[in-house]
Amino acid sequence: MQIENIQFEQEGAIMYITINREKQLNAINKKTILELNHILCLCESDDTIRVLIMTGAGDKAFVAGADIKEFANFNRREGTELSRFGHELLFDKIATYTKPVIAAINGYALGGGLELALAAQIRIASDNAKMGQPEVTLGVIPGYGGTQRLTQLVGKGKAMELILTGEMISAQEALKIGMVNYVVSQEDLLLKAIEIANKIVQNSPRAVRKSIQAINATYGNIGLLKEIELFGSCFGTEEFQEGVTAFLEKRKPNF
Ligand code: HXC
Repeated sequence: MQIENIQFEQEGAIMYITINREKQLNAINKKTILELNHILCLCESDDTIRVLIMTGAGDKAFVAGADIKEFANFNRREGTELSRFGHELLFDKIATYTKPVIAAINGYALGGGLELALAAQIRIASDNAKMGQPEVTLGVIPGYGGTQRLTQLVGKGKAMELILTGEMISAQEALKIGMVNYVVSQEDLLLKAIEIANKIVQNSPRAVRKSIQAINATYGNIGLLKEIELFGSCFGTEEFQEGVTAFLEKRKPNF
């Protein structure tokens, strides 16, 4: 596979993965999902890799969401398929992965970008990071697991507020509500991720794997399947058209 949108590099037992579409603030398109899936499959079968650290290129964004330009003209079927495709190949794969994934959130983590971090086992944010689920401003809902994983992490009340207002919160606020494990300076972000990764690396890989499995056993997939269906049902509507057109025209939507 021709890898264009991510960079990856192994150092010792850690695989570093960087989402690299800096001009688009690392927005994730279908090709990026395929590439990330490819590297996750490779890492899974390589016993020398014990922990993955995922971050975004540059100092502005982790991932600013799914690529809005890619799905702007999708109909209901295509919208549903986009969500299902992402769930299966990337987001559920990370959430149930056999090795821990640490998200090093180095800037904006919005929409699908926050959902990517939420799927990871551990999240560390730099103090300039901003996080949110702005999908309602586009006429859609979170479609890569956010309605479920954000709720599991911060509770129903805060998840409702974040998803319904679409507002971003600061790294400090995210720490306060348990959305991220640590907030550090931008310079210290990878160092903190490595510090945690190195602790995990000392432990039994089997026990680490089984721990992830056991913790996940509580969470079923009914909510995730419902999310895919509801995400798709937003496509092809006037509100969706207004939401994405407003983003592309760099103006506020008028719902
Ligand atoms: C495509 C994006 C993008 C995105 C930014 N860009 N986010 N392109 N998809 N999600 C592009 C912009 O169009 C612009 O390209 C360039 O990146 C720089 O962004 P600016 O907006 O000029 O930067 P700034 O003014 O600093 O604002 C930063 C920002 C804003 C606040 C992060 O870009 C923003 O609001 N982005 C969208 C965030 C969002 O709504 N995410 C959720 C997406 S829906 P040009 O060509 O103009 O220079 C989603 C659904 C998930 O994630 C589920 C799917 C199944």
